[in-house]
Amino acid sequence: MGETSNETRKQFGNRYLTEDDNVFKHNAWDDVKWDEEQEKLALESVQKNSAIVMPTEQVSKYINEADTNWNAFYNLHQNKFFKDRHWLFTEFPELKTSHSTSESFNIFEIGCGVGNTILPILKYNNDDNVQIYGCDFSPRAIEILQKNENFDSKRCQVFVLDATNENWQDSLPFGENSIDIIVMIFVLSAIKPERMQTVLENCFKYLKPGTGQVLFRDYGRYDLAQLRFKAGKCLQNNFYARGDGTLVYFFDQDEIRMRFLNAGFVEGQNIVDRRLQVNRGKQLKMYRVWIQAKYRKPNE
Ligand SMILES: C[S@@+](CC[C@H](N)C(=O)[O-])C[C@H]1O[C@@H](n2cnc3c(N)ncnc32)[C@H](O)[C@@H]1O
Repeated sequence: MGETSNETRKQFGNRYLTEDDNVFKHNAWDDVKWDEEQEKLALESVQKNSAIVMPTEQVSKYINEADTNWNAFYNLHQNKFFKDRHWLFTEFPELKTSHSTSESFNIFEIGCGVGNTILPILKYNNDDNVQIYGCDFSPRAIEILQKNENFDSKRCQVFVLDATNENWQDSLPFGENSIDIIVMIFVLSAIKPERMQTVLENCFKYLKPGTGQVLFRDYGRYDLAQLRFKAGKCLQNNFYARGDGTLVYFFDQDEIRMRFLNAGFVEGQNIVDRRLQVNRGKQLKMYRVWIQAKYRKPNE
């Protein structure tokens, strides 16, 4: 996996592990380097858990029931599952910026769930010109978000949409070329690979030419969550079903780049974010891997 970035990441509070550090001294370390041995072990785990892929009928069942399974997930967990994200505005300051023009600034989140991104934007971005939209294919998630006491229907509109649909227009309250920022956080990974391109092509259609961009963060190849899958859970390479039936794909940088470029975007950022989380009590090391990217729609 090559690492390139056209942007410098400025984060405060980063902590980097050096050879002299005791790894169990802190709970987490940023931008941890992987050596060859570790890459090899990760590859072996993945080869092991994807040696057998599910039979076609079982794969179809998971794909067809994806929305039902996410709905069941939200019935069970309500809004307690996902946590407040300290990284949201440090990684994506674009979501907090105010805009001095009188023109409206439109943010659209795909797969918004119960509002882990939308609610912080409503709280911290008080620019009256900012209009927020969000969709999810789980009606339950949308309902839970709308009932949240911090939801503000004047500044935000959320609705049910299956982003794998070929045509989004009938479900959208806005037109083509009208969105400034599309947010995709841990959502493309939930979509079957065959439909990912359709999703990105639709994103492209609704962004403003020249300035509109997608802010993307999702699971990276060899993330701890991928290595932990047992054999029998693999639908196809790097795509798995969790115990509750929800699906998850693990990306690498080149694949994300290829998908966005093929949809017509230009690259602003494409980085791999590796973090070592430490369970000091159990002396366990957990390696997390995320891909973070920003892609802009060029002028026509
Ligand atoms: C891992 S959750 C992430 C939720 C939210 N983006 C967050 O970061 O907290 C994935 C979300 O994508 C939604 N989702 C999955 N497939 C979708 C699709 N085809 N269309 C719209 N939403 C979808 C799920 O219902 C779920 O809310």
